[in-house]
Order: sequence, then structure tokens, then C-alpha cells
Amino acid sequence: MGTRKIIFPCVVGVVFMLTLFCMSTLENGALVMKKIVSSIYLGITDTSRAESRREELLRMLPQINTHGVDCSRIFVGDDEEIKKAQNITKVRTIPDRDFLRLTRHCTSYRRRGYMTKPVSDEEERYPIAYVIQIYKDLVQIERLLMAIYRPQNWYCINVDLSTGEDVHIGMIAIASCFDNIVINSVDVVWGRISLVEADLTCMQLLYNKNKDWKYLITLAGQMFPLKTNLDMVRIFKSLNGSNAVAAITKKRNPIRWSNLPTPSIPVRLVKGGCHFAVTRGFVRYVLFDKRARQFKKWASKTYIPDEHYVQSLSHSPKLEAPGGYTGWPENGENGYEEIMRYVKWCYDGSECHGKFVRCVCIFSVADLPRMANSHKMFVNKLYYDYEPMALTCMEQRHYQWTRQDILGMNDDRINITFYRNLPNVKHHIPSGLEN
Ligand SMILES: *[C@@H]1O[C@H](CO)[C@@H](O)[C@H](O)[C@H]1NC(C)=O
Ligand SMILES: *[C@@H]1O[C@H](CO)[C@@H](O)[C@H](O)[C@H]1NC(C)=O
Ligand SMILES: *[C@@H]1O[C@H](CO)[C@@H](O)[C@H](O)[C@H]1NC(C)=O
Repeated sequence: MGTRKIIFPCVVGVVFMLTLFCMSTLENGALVMKKIVSSIYLGITDTSRAESRREELLRMLPQINTHGVDCSRIFVGDDEEIKKAQNITKVRTIPDRDFLRLTRHCTSYRRRGYMTKPVSDEEERYPIAYVIQIYKDLVQIERLLMAIYRPQNWYCINVDLSTGEDVHIGMIAIASCFDNIVINSVDVVWGRISLVEADLTCMQLLYNKNKDWKYLITLAGQMFPLKTNLDMVRIFKSLNGSNAVAAITKKRNPIRWSNLPTPSIPVRLVKGGCHFAVTRGFVRYVLFDKRARQFKKWASKTYIPDEHYVQSLSHSPKLEAPGGYTGWPENGENGYEEIMRYVKWCYDGSECHGKFVRCVCIFSVADLPRMANSHKMFVNKLYYDYEPMALTCMEQRHYQWTRQDILGMNDDRINITFYRNLPNVKHHIPSGLEN
């Protein structure tokens, strides 16, 4: 028995070697043999390396306390579970000034739930840049940041200069624990060009910091992602180098520039959402193109330019801004579908179960079923202290999905066909990201 055990593999080995000899020269045979052995060896170490990377990533996920609520039942519209969640008013809060203490030891701070390793190679090869405007509630900013943070991405956070010192110091302290988060401070006056300036100075910072990011997203602190980073990478790839900037022309409020002469460049004036996703090529255009700068001078004399400056540049075929839409914004009354934000306005009628603050719906737990299968990338807005389970359930789902991404189980969570067929994707000025 013992000798057979040794003889058998020897015979196999000799036969194998002889076959190689017959097939080729001695040198070649040895090379092939070496390759086979090393690929088996590497195969084993690769698998265990991937496994330990997955385990490490899973440990980074934050724990979400849902207070006994089954969030998955809320997303399918279970009324009883919704009522139960609405009854929970307990708010987990952290005073702004506590962030200085929490970030004293960065290693332990990052362990609160930040993904400090790329979740997948696909995401690592496709960095995204973020510009975020904040002015209050670091406890909620941290929850947003945790959900969107990835080491390969870039973040510029503009803290409104007029905001409290604690928010300012706390935000700087958080940023100091990461190499890819920069802080900017522009005094933002609502309705004036300063909000545009706040975006532009952040864009400039991010443009100079890193040359690899593909798309740039602008956000506010009370938004939350409806997609994971991997989903967003796939959505951006589907956009094929086009910008996601919502706009309309019919109801564009020309009164905002009625006292001015028409601009000297061939711009098509539109009104649109102040949160958008644009390509790196478009950012370069906005920062450096003569026509964009000229248009900014004009826009600085208008009212609420954060709703028409970037938006018009991205909707003026004659200006040739990369990623811009070459078609007509209107498709019926309301423009083409916005994919950046899930937002409901006070004039949208019955679609808000929450409350309106400055005409924008602050969503209730009861609004979650409607946004469950949305194609949109971010919800605007959720308040951490208004029906707190709304944000908590969004988080819980987000980390469940991130978990699936880590385990390689995100097969077709997003519908590529939907994004590919958007009018702005089909008709746009190339930006160098096309495939
Ligand atoms: C809501 O909370 C109160 C007190 O905490 C409790 O008495 C009541 O039964 C709860 N209602 C529901 C629908 O869970
Ligand atoms: C994906 O989107 C396309 C275009 O909107 C639609 O026709 C199709 O039914 C969607 N597929 C699924 C599986 O939802
Ligand atoms: C992407 O855009 C380019 C340039 O507009 C176009 O030639 C190409 O066909 C588009 N690719 C897809 C898959 O739609």
C-alpha cells in the first residue's frame, strides 16, 4: 500500500514529463511545468488573500441599530411596520464639539464605520469626486460621509463661513483623519453667486489634487445615497461621458436676470437642480474655458445663479462644454428625468408624507416605499432628527447592499438599459469618457 502511494504519482509525473518532451523541446517543457506549478500556488494564495480582504472589509461596516424595526418590511410598504417605525422618536445625537475628541485617535475614529479599503477593483479603477456643502449637524454629516467614503474617491467639503465654530473645528478634525478629504470655507449667501463660488473653489481644489477621478458630484449635508459606490460607478459608466444635470426651459424664471442684457456668448438659459454629476472634462471647461468665465461674470449679477450657471453651460450645444446635452431639455412639461436627486417640492402635491421646509419635502418613514426602487442616486432630504428611522432604515439598506458588493453579489441591482436610454446620454458632447 505504502509503495503504491508513492509510485502512482511518480508514474503520473514521469508520463506527464514525457508528454511534454514529446510535444516540445526540453527547455519549453520545463517552462510549461514551472508555469503550471506556480499558477496552482498563486491560485491558492490569491483566493486566501481575496478571502481575508473580504473579511477585513466586512469588519469595517458600521452596525446599524434599527430599534427592533424590520426595515425591509418598510421598503415593501408594510403599514404596520411603518407605524411602528414612526413611533420611534429616539434620536442618536452627538454634539458638534464632541468630534474634536472623537477624532483624537484617527485609527479608532475611522473604525466607526468608514470603508478604508476599496470594495472592489472595479471601483478602485473608477474614482469619483464629491463637493459637499454643509452648515450644521456633524452627526448627520458623519453618517452621509460614512456611506459614501471610499479611499480612492476625493471629497471637498465646504463649510459655510457663517456657521458655528464647533461645526467648523469638528469638520476640520474629521478631515484630518483622511488623506482624501479637503476642507474649503466660502461664505455662502443664499441666492447669490457665492454658492456657485463655493462649488467652483472646491472643484478647483479637487481638480488639482488628483487627475484620476472621472465624475464629480455635488451634494448637501441632508442628502443620502440611494445607491452604493459600486452602483454609482456602473451608472456613470452607463452615462457614457454625459453629464447628469437636470434642467427645464419653460418654467425657468427669467425674472432672475430680467434687468440684464442678454449674455454675449451663445448660451441657452435654463433652470435646473443645484445638485448634479458632471464629467472631469466638464469641470475643466467650467474652470478654464474663456466662455465659461465670461458667462460667470454675467451670472454673478443674477438671482439664484446656482440654478442656472452650471445648468445652462451643460445645455448649450454651441458652447461645446464636455458632457453637455445637445437636445432640448423639455420632454413634455417637466424636462427629462433627473437621476441625481429624489426630491419632492411643495407644488408636487401628495407625494410627501413628511413636512416641507422651504418648499422641499423632509421625507417621512412612509415615503420610503416610494423611493425604494428609484433610479435616482441620492435622496434630498432626510433629517436625522425628524422621523429618525427614515435615515436609519436607508442606512441599514445601504450597508446591506455594500455587504453584497463586498461579497461579489451585486449582479444587476441597477438597470443599465435605463441609464443608457436617457436622452442626455444619447445626445451629448463627448467628454473623453465614452466607450
Ligand atoms: C407607540 O409608543 C407608545 C409609547 O412608547 C406605545 O404605548 C404605543 O403602543 C406605540 N404604538 C405603536 C403603534 O407601536
Ligand atoms: C430596464 O429599463 C428599461 C428601460 O427603462 C426597461 O424597458 C426594462 O423593463 C428595465 N428592466 C428591468 C429588469 O426592470
Ligand atoms: C457613447 O458615446 C459615443 C460618443 O457620443 C458614441 O459614439 C457611442 O456609440 C456611445 N456608446 C454607447 C454604448 O452608447
